[in-house]
Amino acid sequence: MTNDYILIKKSSPLNGTVEILGAKNAVLVIMTSLILTDGVSVLENVPNNADVQLMIKLLQDLGALVEFDVREKSMRVDTSGINAYEVKPEIMNKMRASILVMGPLLARFGKAKVAFPGGDLIGLRPINYHLEGFKQLGVSVQLSDLFVEVQLSTSQPPYTRIALEYPSVGATENLLMFASLGNNETVIINAALEPEVLDLIAILQKMGAHIQILPGAIIIIKGVGRLKPVHHTIVPDRLEAGALLLATAITGGSLTIPNARPDHLDVFLDKLKKMGHHITTGFDCAERIPQGITLRATQHPQAISIKTGPYPGFPTDLQPSMMAALCLAEGTSTIEETVYENRMLHTKELAKMGAQITVNGTIATIRGVEALYGCDVIASDIRASCALVLAGFVAFGQTKMTGVHHWKRGYDQLEVKLSALGGNIQLIHEELNVSENQKIAQTLPS
Ligand code: EPU
Repeated sequence: MTNDYILIKKSSPLNGTVEILGAKNAVLVIMTSLILTDGVSVLENVPNNADVQLMIKLLQDLGALVEFDVREKSMRVDTSGINAYEVKPEIMNKMRASILVMGPLLARFGKAKVAFPGGDLIGLRPINYHLEGFKQLGVSVQLSDLFVEVQLSTSQPPYTRIALEYPSVGATENLLMFASLGNNETVIINAALEPEVLDLIAILQKMGAHIQILPGAIIIIKGVGRLKPVHHTIVPDRLEAGALLLATAITGGSLTIPNARPDHLDVFLDKLKKMGHHITTGFDCAERIPQGITLRATQHPQAISIKTGPYPGFPTDLQPSMMAALCLAEGTSTIEETVYENRMLHTKELAKMGAQITVNGTIATIRGVEALYGCDVIASDIRASCALVLAGFVAFGQTKMTGVHHWKRGYDQLEVKLSALGGNIQLIHEELNVSENQKIAQTLPS
């Protein structure tokens, strides 16, 4: 066993130019979508993080052959040998994104059995919208304490309209993948349209799926008999871009990300401008897409108010890092978290560092302070780990962050990029000796 931690020290302003990798939340679902095909697909710009490694294992367990060239960021997936429709609980329990195999397995085998993913620290995260949607499409659902089993019934409705109560990213993705294969027409109303969902739609269309997006967040899917393997480059990670921009903003530096998509971060960039930061964005004339973001930080950031929401609203996954940046802004800021019921755990850790934050339900009020102070902190989820690293860059002294597995789940060596830009950050890998391992083993459930 290891005891990894990240050491962060007060840093000078971050400066430079850096490229971002493909989005974790796009590549994970795209990897599951390959189950819909039979043959070899190639994915480019794939980040190497712990969740991607776990998804590789999941696909291999089902019978796929996966080769990941980590240096080239290129992944080759041969799905022709997939012959299983059950996912082991030990994989399901480690990563909620594994629920996204359900739609593709149902489409391929007419059935799927997966362990119930359960809740996590940031919220209960039920899967009722996924299951209600499947039921409307003629799927029977059986729940036990541990497992969810789904099976296609003999008769499927030729035309189904599914109105999602909330534009759930995962439910939209699962239903999209399932509906892409078959003879039926499905309409999803109030669908999620996050850039990662659009990237999934792009790869499904390359496979031969008939998908149309109508105004008002409506997606129409006309099932086809076969989907073919593809070559696809993963959309740049707006959350990695957001993390790098906030690290630059908090340290008072200057950064250009040539391959970031400003149109994926409109509300976030607007909030950075309201804080006083100078933002410029570019446009790729050949591709005809907005591309490139430069931030020049103000030395006097101002307090702002934000409310998280589904895309194109302020991304919940950037809320913790934005909160870290607001700890040192002039005035009083408020953050309302509307996506998750419990995504405020980082506030306690930031408070240990000297931040003045009060939380009332899902609303945090942040009174800007003159300084933060380094101490030992614990990351509770992927995005909380990023917030604590950013706070560490401006805190006097040294911050030691444990819970590093969360950091490794979401980011591909982001510490190396931050360090190259001037951040004082080091990931320390510590092997535990035998007696320490035994002590930990005794505390684990049998
Ligand atoms: N929800 C339900 N019922 C459902 C599905 C969702 O009540 O059937 C609730 C959830 O509990 C949550 C809210 O709806 O409170 C949003 O959930 P959604 O389904 O939209 O999110 P997700 O698909 O579970 C993805 C990302 C998350 C990101 C959210 C929102 C992946 C693998 N995960 O989760 O990413 O926060 O969308 O944008 O795509 C992260 O990367 O750190 C992360 C948590």
